[in-house]
Amino acid sequence: MADNKEKVEENKQENNSSYISAKESRKITKFNRKVTKKLEADRANAKKDPSLYTTKMKDENNVVEFDNVCTYFFTDVGVVKSVDGINFNIPKCSTVGVVGESGCGKSVTSLSLMQLLQRPSGQTVGGEIRFNLGDGTAYNIVNTPTAKMQEIRGNRISMIFQEPMTSLNPVFKIGMQVNEVLELHNPEMSKEQIKARTLEMLEMVGIANKEGVYEMYPHELSGGMRQRVMIAIALACSPELIIADEPTTALDVTIQAQILDLLAGLKNKINSSIMLITHDLGVVASMADYVVVMYAGRVIEKGTADDIFHHPAHPYTIGLMKSKPVVGKKVDSLYNIEGNVPNPVDMPDYCYFRDRCNMQCERCKAKVGEAGGDYPPEIKISDTHFVSCYRFFEEGEVIGYPKTVNAEELLK
Ligand SMILES: Nc1ncnc2c1ncn2[C@@H]1O[C@H](COP(=O)(O)OP(=O)(O)OP(=O)(O)O)[C@@H](O)[C@H]1O
Ligand code: SF4
Ligand SMILES: [Mg+2]
Repeated sequence: MADNKEKVEENKQENNSSYISAKESRKITKFNRKVTKKLEADRANAKKDPSLYTTKMKDENNVVEFDNVCTYFFTDVGVVKSVDGINFNIPKCSTVGVVGESGCGKSVTSLSLMQLLQRPSGQTVGGEIRFNLGDGTAYNIVNTPTAKMQEIRGNRISMIFQEPMTSLNPVFKIGMQVNEVLELHNPEMSKEQIKARTLEMLEMVGIANKEGVYEMYPHELSGGMRQRVMIAIALACSPELIIADEPTTALDVTIQAQILDLLAGLKNKINSSIMLITHDLGVVASMADYVVVMYAGRVIEKGTADDIFHHPAHPYTIGLMKSKPVVGKKVDSLYNIEGNVPNPVDMPDYCYFRDRCNMQCERCKAKVGEAGGDYPPEIKISDTHFVSCYRFFEEGEVIGYPKTVNAEELLK
C-alpha cells in the first residue's frame, strides 16, 4: 500500500514538473513565515532610526531613482521574483513610459514605489527607491515608515488606476471624495476653501457641470467622467509624481485621447512628472519622453522615446515594434513573438529571452558559467540608450549585471 502511494507520488512528479509534494509545501510555508517575520521586524526597526531611510539622490534632477530594486512575493509555490534588480530614473518634469507584456512587473514596480504591496507576502527585499524631497535629501522608500509614507501618498506622489469604478467609493458623493484628499493633506484649509479648490479641480479636468457633479455619486457618471474625477483627485495636491497605471485601458479611443491630452496638459501646468504604465505603444509614443521596456521582472532596454521607437536594440523590443499595427499597411496577420516567458518561480540563469530569441549570437549560446552563459549585463550603446543584450557586448560599454537577492540568504 505504502509502495503504491509512493509510486503515485512519483508519477505525479514526472507528469508535472511544477508539482509540489506535501513535504515541500510545508517547507515553503515554514520558510515564508520565517522570512516575512524577519523582514517585517527589520522594517519596524528602521522606523526608529531615520538614517536607515534618509538618503541622497544620485542626481538632483531626478524625482525618483530605482536602484537595483528587488520585489518578491513569498507564495505557496515558492518565491516569485516579480521585480528583480531593476534600474531606471524618472527625471523632473518628464514622462517616463513603462512598457512590457502582461505580468512583467510594471504594476509591482509602481506599487513598490507607493509601498502598497500586499504585505507580508509581498516585500521589497533589495535595492533602493529614492524619492527626492527637494531639500537636498531623499527618502529610501523601501525602508520609509508608514506614517511618513502617508504624508507622501496622494500628496507628493499620486496614482491613477486602470478602472475608476473600483477606485472611487460607490457610497460617497464625488465632491466628498475630492475634499477628503485635500482635507487630509491641508489641515490648515477651511471647509469653504476646500470646496472651492475641489470645484476648481473639477473644472480643470474638463467637467462642465462642476456644481452638479460635486453632488453626484460615481454610478451617475460615465467612464470618461469618472476617470476625470480620478485625475482631479490625483492632482488635487499638485504632486511631484503622478503614477498612471493603464489610465485609459477601460475607455474608448476618443475619450482615451482626451484623457491623455488632459493629463499631459495638467502635468505641465503643475510641473510634475508622470510614470505612465501601459502596454499600448501608441500611447507611449504620443506621451513619453523616456521609455523603459520590462521583460520578466527586469528592465531589458531603456532610452529616450526616439531611441526605443526608431532604434530598438533588444530583440524583444524589436519584436514589440513589429507587432504594432500600422495604419495603411496591409498584412495577413500581425507579428507575434513565439514562445512564453519563463516560469517566474524558477527563472533561468541565462538571458530570460533566449528561448524565444531569433537573433542569438555565439556568446548567448554559451553554457552557464562560461562567458556569455549568464544573464546579460546592462550595456550603454549611446548617452541615453541602454540595453541588456549580448549582441552589443563588444561595441557598447558594460555598466553592470543586475544585483539580485538570494531569498535563502535573507534569513542570515
Ligand atoms: N499579490 C501577489 N502575489 C503573488 N504574485 C503576484 C502578486 N502580485 C503580482 N504578482 C506576480 O508578479 C508578477 C508581475 O505582476 P504585475 O501585476 O506587476 O504585472 P504587470 O506587468 O502589471 O501586468 P499587466 O500588464 O497584466 O497589468 C506576475 O507574475 C504576478 O503573477
Ligand atoms: S542576449 Fe542573446 S539571447 Fe538574449 S536577447 Fe540578446 S541576442 Fe537574444
Ligand atoms: Mg499591471
